Amino acid sequence: MSKDPDHGAHLDFAKSMSYGDYLNLDKLLSCQNPLSDAHDEMLFLVIHQASELWMKLAIHELTAAVAAIRRDELQPAFKMLARVSRIQGQMIQSWDVLATMTPADYSSFRDKLGMSSGFQSYQYRSMEFLLGSKDRAMLKPHEHRPDLHKLLTDLLEAPSLYDEAIRLLARRGLSISQTVLNRDVTQHYDADESVLAAWAEVYKNSKSHWDLYELAEELVDLEDSFQVWRFRHMKTVQRVIGFKRGTGGTAGVEYLRRAVDRPFFPELWQVRTEV
Ligand code: HEM
Repeated sequence: MSKDPDHGAHLDFAKSMSYGDYLNLDKLLSCQNPLSDAHDEMLFLVIHQASELWMKLAIHELTAAVAAIRRDELQPAFKMLARVSRIQGQMIQSWDVLATMTPADYSSFRDKLGMSSGFQSYQYRSMEFLLGSKDRAMLKPHEHRPDLHKLLTDLLEAPSLYDEAIRLLARRGLSISQTVLNRDVTQHYDADESVLAAWAEVYKNSKSHWDLYELAEELVDLEDSFQVWRFRHMKTVQRVIGFKRGTGGTAGVEYLRRAVDRPFFPELWQVRTEV
């Protein structure tokens, strides 16, 4: 042990807060409880839990970003959205770690998972709802948990990040159809010509609409990363279970493949053909 008087090793933490106290490590590190003796189950557990922690932070940032855009405070919103993109980078990287698990490794404990599946991740569904991909059917797996059901219902009924971005376009004088501005925000968002025209104006005259242009590119970053995550998930699943059905009851890879093509901000992709 160091004799350096500045070295923290001599401190007595009986009365003051330690690193472990602050981080609640006893609790955090006692949440990894494998159901089998299989070596790789720890990897499977930790990757899921770490992803859920990153999602928790992403939701924290997205919720605040949506509120900031509503208040026309774009600079803080940009900072938060940029952070979400970096979080997504971490989540995407975790597929490389998980892909070290072979089909045989996974088969050694898969039966223990029963019907549990990421399909029931309420944080993942919260992120989809916050970004703008709404589907009331996704509340169903949470009926047995009124607290989670309410949390998701509230997000379903609130304007999403994309709804707020479109309202901002209208506040800035760009012509947006009333049908879009008064839309039922619980419903799936369908691409609209007036929104496409507004983004086209932002991209063609970026100098006059610099912050909207920046917002558009941040949204594209988010969606791009979300789709990369979905793609890596789908390929990792194919690599590990082939075309077996999912534990959550879907067709598995085919279900995940369809999600990769589901856009959050459709006009922001269409506009690229226009400008
Ligand atoms: C070997 C590892 C994995 C396998 C075999 C796997 C398999 C699947 C399958 C087949 C589905 C479709 C639903 C079902 O029928 O179960 C699914 C959905 C899902 N998984 Fe995974 N998964 C794995 C790892 C992960 C990890 C690490 C996460 C991170 C949190 C995750 C999150 C999700 C989410 C959020 C969904 C819902 C996707 C949606 O509804 O669009 N999965 N998974």
